[in-house]
Order: sequence, then structure tokens, then C-alpha cells
Amino acid sequence: MDITLTKWTLDDLEDLLYFANNRKIAKWMANGFPSPYKEEDALFFIEKVSVNNRNLFAITVDGRKCGGIGLHPQIDIMCKNAELGYWLGEPYWGQGIVSHCVGLMVAYGFENLDINRIFARPFGSNITSQKVLEKCGFVLEARLSKTIYKLGQYEDELIYAVRRS
Ligand SMILES: CC(C)(COP(=O)(O)OP(=O)(O)OC[C@H]1O[C@@H](n2cnc3c(N)ncnc32)[C@H](O)[C@@H]1OP(=O)(O)O)[C@@H](O)C(=O)NCCC(=O)NCCS
Repeated sequence: MDITLTKWTLDDLEDLLYFANNRKIAKWMANGFPSPYKEEDALFFIEKVSVNNRNLFAITVDGRKCGGIGLHPQIDIMCKNAELGYWLGEPYWGQGIVSHCVGLMVAYGFENLDINRIFARPFGSNITSQKVLEKCGFVLEARLSKTIYKLGQYEDELIYAVRRS
């Protein structure tokens, strides 16, 4: 299996739409990841990130753009931190793909950005994502009770982080 992180381009529109339009993914994401995921959403995302965002990548497996992963550098007094986010198309789950990509992104972040901490905020019930982060050396720093409200339900917010060593 060939796994790489690549820039999003307009050629990826079809793959993005195909894999991102999935309620089982959206339910774990902030509402900026819509459901249903329509063609205009895919177009808006790719146009935005291909021009402005150097730190968001397509997860590319054997040539298919089947997921997304990226770092969001913070501002102001949080400027030494970046938030990590990711998702993967359902047919590819459970093969270690995102764990591999998180490792790549952590290395990329500490090499290319002026940051000392990378954090992620999975929902308390998102055991798979927590497993990924733990496998990649992230440490659970905090559990905030019922701070997330998604699809009519409250969820705990977990803060996992890895520091520049
Ligand atoms: C979370 C997600 C990115 C994981 O991607 P993935 O490539 O399938 O993850 P990996 O295969 O690298 O690792 C998953 C790990 O979780 C484990 N796992 C999965 N479900 C589990 C469960 N219910 N309980 C315990 N462990 C579980 C797997 O066994 C695997 O660990 P292992 O390699 O030690 O066996 C993917 O499922 C996804 O896109 N989910 C929807 C969106 C999302 O949750 N994004 C993250 C928001 S913070």
C-alpha cells in the first residue's frame, strides 16, 4: 500500500466528494465538515485550501485521495500550538493508515512550523481516534465534560497533545 500526503487540487474533486459524503465521518467532526457533503462543499474546500492553506493535505492511498489531514496553527498567545485534524474514507478504515499519516504530520509540523505543541480534540466517545493518537505518542492532557454539542447530544472534549522533544 502506497500512502502519501499530497496537496489538494481541483482534480481531486470527485474523490473528495465520494469519500467525504459519509455521515459516519461527519458525526465525529466539527460542523464545518458538512453532511450531506455536496459538490459545492468539495469545490469550496479545494478552492480555499489550494490557494491559502499550506498545511492541509489529502491522504493518498494507491493514487486515491481518500481522506484529509492537516495542522491549524493557532494565533496570538497560542501561537506556539497547532491543532491536528483528520478523517479517512470508510473503505480504508482499520488498516493503520491514519496512524501512519499522523506520524508524518507531526514530523512535518515540528520541521516546518514555529510551534512546540500539536494537539487534537477527539470526542470522548471517539475511541478509534483516541487509539490513533495514543499510538502516535500523544498524551491525554485534559478531559472537559460535555463541552461539545453535536447532533443534539453533549459530548466530552478530550485534549491530546504531543510536544517538541
Ligand atoms: C478515526 C479515523 C481517522 C481512524 O483512521 P484509521 O486509519 O482507520 O485508524 P488506524 O487504522 O490507524 O487505527 C485505528 C485504531 O483504532 C482501533 N480501534 C478501532 N475501533 C476501536 C474501538 N471501538 N475500540 C478500541 N480500538 C478501536 C483499531 O484497532 C486501531 O488500532 P490498532 O492498529 O492498534 O489495532 C477514521 O476512523 C475516521 O475517519 N473516522 C471518522 C472521522 C474522525 O473520527 N476523525 C477524527 C476526529 S478527532
